[in-house]
Amino acid sequence: MSTDFPDGFLWGTSSAAHQVEGDNRNCDWWDFEQQPGRIANGDTSAVANDHYHRYREDFALLRELNQNAHRLSIEWSRIEPSPGEFDAHQIRHYRDVLGDLRERGVQPMVTLHHFTSPSWFASKGGWSAKGSAYAFLPFVHRVVDELGDLVGLWCTINEPNLYAVNAWISGEFPPGHKGDLAAMYRVTSNLHKAHELAYSAIKRRWPDAPVGLSHHKLLFLPASEKRRDHWAAQVSQLALDRWPVAPGMLRRVVEATCDYVGIAHYWGQMCAFDPKLPNEQFIRRFNVPGRPVTDMGLSTDPAWMRVVLNEAGKLGKPVYITENGVATHDDEWRCRYITETLSNVRLAIGDGVDVRGYFHWTNTDNFEWSRGYNMHFGLIGVDRKSLERTIKPSGRIYGRIAASNSLSAVD
Ligand code: BGC
Repeated sequence: MSTDFPDGFLWGTSSAAHQVEGDNRNCDWWDFEQQPGRIANGDTSAVANDHYHRYREDFALLRELNQNAHRLSIEWSRIEPSPGEFDAHQIRHYRDVLGDLRERGVQPMVTLHHFTSPSWFASKGGWSAKGSAYAFLPFVHRVVDELGDLVGLWCTINEPNLYAVNAWISGEFPPGHKGDLAAMYRVTSNLHKAHELAYSAIKRRWPDAPVGLSHHKLLFLPASEKRRDHWAAQVSQLALDRWPVAPGMLRRVVEATCDYVGIAHYWGQMCAFDPKLPNEQFIRRFNVPGRPVTDMGLSTDPAWMRVVLNEAGKLGKPVYITENGVATHDDEWRCRYITETLSNVRLAIGDGVDVRGYFHWTNTDNFEWSRGYNMHFGLIGVDRKSLERTIKPSGRIYGRIAASNSLSAVD
């Protein structure tokens, strides 16, 4: 099998404004972090990586690693600090950010919502409120009009499924509610509505720009060959995939409002039917025995990428891996993880899946939400005191693969 990737393949990393920019005070996450006990080790995002001021330095490092694309998010709460009021200075800032990427020959994939919302929006019920999708729209229009000429690809919403679960079921994300199934379904459905509205708004102005969303795709495997364990795995998959439509309609929804399928894949679990767990829908989920467990406590296997991509490929659209990575302090593992995952991407391409790009999560170690700063996903380390950046060996390996558009660079 060839180890080369298709011409024009996008090699990038992925990030999110709140996790790197710093001093992002006007959003629900900032408020949430100030509540004791919400974030591991009492961390807060605080100055984060000060990427807001150091983006040029960070983008220069991306070029040093031969990246030709970068996924980043535009912070809604900076652009629209109160409803209907837009901050020209912040729009200018993001024009500079995107312009800098362009000048370096790095294509921006822009996410419009990556887990953070303005405090004013959250105080009205956030994404659980009626009409929330429409409240998002003025921001979208502003970005489309004022920044659209600099955007390469659009990613409307980051992981609607994971966001809804973390904010309304596990309580790890603001507003920190637990077990509110009804709200969780409302939120997912409002986020998909927001995606549809954003899709139309973008396409009206920039018909040729590819638009999609990033779908969090974990793999659920049956714990045995028994039919009831297969049922447990299927139900888990459907529950997490949770598009607000019957599974049969998924293809039509994707056809109408996605130019590509964006896949964020990190981990997998086993599922077994368990009559003793009525509150868990009679399903016991656990890490896959024999597979390595990341610092997030989740089992992972590079071979699962091929499975996930083959499934995404069935939707008949180009596929971008919008996120993939591993939380570990062991950079040798990250090196192996990257090359093994990419050989599985290559295998999926050989299977006929139209994979167009890979965005590794993430370039710099950053604020990992409720897990704080001790989760290291980066190709580049950041000293928490001086904020000095240091490229890790994994970054160098990824850079060599990107430069040669081939895995032969690491044979
Ligand atoms: C999120 C990122 C997060 C990453 C690692 C993804 O689900 O989009 O913001 O940092 O997972 O946990």
